[in-house]
Amino acid sequence: MKDLQFARHRRLRSSDNMRALVRETHLHKEDLIYPIFVVEGHNIKNEVPSMPGVYHLSLDLLNAEMAEVMDLGIKSVIVFGVPNEKDEVGTQAYHDHGIVQKAIAQIKESFSDLVVIADTCLCQFTNHGHCGIVEEGQVLNDPTLDLLARTAVSQARAGADIIAPSNMMDGFVAAIRHGLDENGFEHIPVMSYAVKYSSAFYGPFRDAAHSSPQFGDRKTYQMDPANRQEALREAESDIMEGADFLIVKPALSYLDIIRDVKNNFNVPVVAYNVSGEYSMIKAAAQNGWINEKEIVMEMLVSMKRAGVDLIITYFSKDVARWLNEN
Ligand code: PBG
Repeated sequence: MKDLQFARHRRLRSSDNMRALVRETHLHKEDLIYPIFVVEGHNIKNEVPSMPGVYHLSLDLLNAEMAEVMDLGIKSVIVFGVPNEKDEVGTQAYHDHGIVQKAIAQIKESFSDLVVIADTCLCQFTNHGHCGIVEEGQVLNDPTLDLLARTAVSQARAGADIIAPSNMMDGFVAAIRHGLDENGFEHIPVMSYAVKYSSAFYGPFRDAAHSSPQFGDRKTYQMDPANRQEALREAESDIMEGADFLIVKPALSYLDIIRDVKNNFNVPVVAYNVSGEYSMIKAAAQNGWINEKEIVMEMLVSMKRAGVDLIITYFSKDVARWLNEN
């Protein structure tokens, strides 16, 4: 044995503190963005059946939730609205008194330090559930851009700190940037869902947001999960159009894409740890099949290791609590 030559990797794994010294990747509370679902009405706190621990909240209960989020040390939320009324053209998305606009204004009034991100899309607000204007069964690109720009401007007017367009029409960042700039919001950044795949992992969210397409699917605008080069083309065009952040979505099955995007662009990269990724873990944990805390921390660290700066996750409150315990 004495003459054998080999590396002693275990020297650096000998104790908790030794491992802490050589740890390469860290998850911080500052990395977390917490998604919330707001609804019209009074005294509503309804759990989404496919997403245990995630609720539809009416505005009268929103401040208590935001106070809890801030107390935990979370710095940012992303707001999704579930409106009462839907129509062909998604009017409630860009209405100045739409549910999202009201929620944003209310949060910023009481919690001015919280960074409020507005998801900018039409699918929760259209009766056909598509992310754009539909004519003869087709989702039209260019006529949708004007509505997205109007949505973004009304969200900025309500007080949104960041606009996060998720609808995957071509030119959406350009249209929104232009709309924001023309209306005096040149200081508001755009966090683009630049690389958004057409994914079955969004299923539980569509239950939560009542936003399933009523015919067809989203494959003419969201990306094919088989594609990697296309992710770089999407990211590149969004950067040229003025995106300040790039989102990759979903996260867990797309860690390779996160690394590609991180290696090729020098803006903050965001992972969206989507609803299906959340629900799978919740379901397994409720069955006692996995250790929820350890799995969640491992999953989120793997996203950071893959190269993200920020993570949008329904686990944000749990993670902040776990980090606070340490
Ligand atoms: C809307 C939108 C979707 C999600 C966020 N914004 C889903 C979709 O394309 O249907 C999904 C989020 C999640 O699954 O957690 N365009």
